[in-house]
Amino acid sequence: MTVNPELLRASAAHYINGELSIEAVALAEIADAVGTPVYVYSSAMFAAQYHLLTTALAGLPHLLHYAVKANSTLAVMKQFADLGAGFDIVSGGELSRVLAVGGDPAQVVFSGVGKSIEEIDFALKTGIECFNVESADELARISDRAKILRKVAPIALRINPNVDAQTHPYISTGLKENKFGIAQESALALYLDAQADPCIQVRGIACHIGSQIGDPQPLFDALEQLLTLVDTLKSEGIVLTDIDLGGGFGVTYDDEPAFDVTAWGSRVKQRLVDRGLRLSIEPGRFLTANAGVLLTRVEYLKPGEESPQTAHTHTSSKHFAVVDAAMNDLLRPSLYQAWHGVLPVSQHSQGETKSWDIVGPICESGDWLAKDRQLSLSAGDLLCVMSAGAYGSTLSSNYNTRPRAAEVLVNGTAFRLVRRRESLQDLLSTEML
Ligand code: LLP
Repeated sequence: MTVNPELLRASAAHYINGELSIEAVALAEIADAVGTPVYVYSSAMFAAQYHLLTTALAGLPHLLHYAVKANSTLAVMKQFADLGAGFDIVSGGELSRVLAVGGDPAQVVFSGVGKSIEEIDFALKTGIECFNVESADELARISDRAKILRKVAPIALRINPNVDAQTHPYISTGLKENKFGIAQESALALYLDAQADPCIQVRGIACHIGSQIGDPQPLFDALEQLLTLVDTLKSEGIVLTDIDLGGGFGVTYDDEPAFDVTAWGSRVKQRLVDRGLRLSIEPGRFLTANAGVLLTRVEYLKPGEESPQTAHTHTSSKHFAVVDAAMNDLLRPSLYQAWHGVLPVSQHSQGETKSWDIVGPICESGDWLAKDRQLSLSAGDLLCVMSAGAYGSTLSSNYNTRPRAAEVLVNGTAFRLVRRRESLQDLLSTEML
């Protein structure tokens, strides 16, 4: 079995005497106690990633708004609130999660292209820090609702800087062809409208160009464009106090070098020093991806036929390991062909070494977690899907009427259940005949 040292270095999971563990807790112990599939997170790694980012920005006034969509489990959000993070939300549902963990609404930015009237009203009544506005129509709606509710809505315009984040097309958001943000050419006119509106308080400028970004250059390019706009606005008498550069910092899934937040931070500091702007960032994946894993158990092995290849037959036999986690638990491989490491929980487990496809029980050929992995497997083995702390549980569903997985938070030598496995009763309880 080949274990990529980069991946093990980046992940919270590590082998102790041949047993995969998070912090000081053996993952097998968690699987025995809670069952599988189960998401397991490292509290220490959440904190370490948070400190890495805030330390990179030390000396510059800044606020980290944790992007709730990456992992919105309450216990995870609570930890970031306790660390001092604000939150980046994209729905009223996410706002109610912030409130449920005692997060400060005055440290919440609200992004997203489709904010509904109900969501805008909820945010206005709650008193959030800022709406990151994505269109002229949305600005008009926010102004109308503020007027009706006798509030003043704090806003930033989310600019689409038309830079290529060089990432997967589904998670690239800063190109003109993407639905996000306001074109630079329209921004000045919209800012002038907003400034003249008594129901709007113009605070800042924002962008978010994509996710899983490896090369920082597109982020710097976007920053320069925003700064040019800040200067133009100043000359028109509009003085901004906040600049929001979004999230997107890439992580190691396989052997990608980790995004160098320290180098990025020092360049950002250089560009923003003496500007009088407070920096905001909206990281999600960077804080959570490698702090989490998904544990799953092998149900069945389906080794392929070992038929010899001749001139007439074209049998490339596939070996399938059917596990108890599926695309409803972790959608990223199916949706983005994303690569996640898969490691045996016990290095002592015996089995035939083959190149296995790790697949779930769902009735879709797209239901796979990993392909062509050299592993020694027996039925009943526990496997660990790596780097599953971001966009894992949040993207999960009940497809095939499968209850969503349990979630566990590890802290040192202790672990606790932070989301119980859904029951079949939970699943049926919202419906009526
Ligand atoms: N801010 C905004 C406005 C966003 O749209 C996003 C992510 C973030 C911040 C956080 O980005 P991060 O730091 O996590 O890269 N489901 C995909 C990722 C979708 C990202 C959507 N927006 C995946 O599993 O790769």
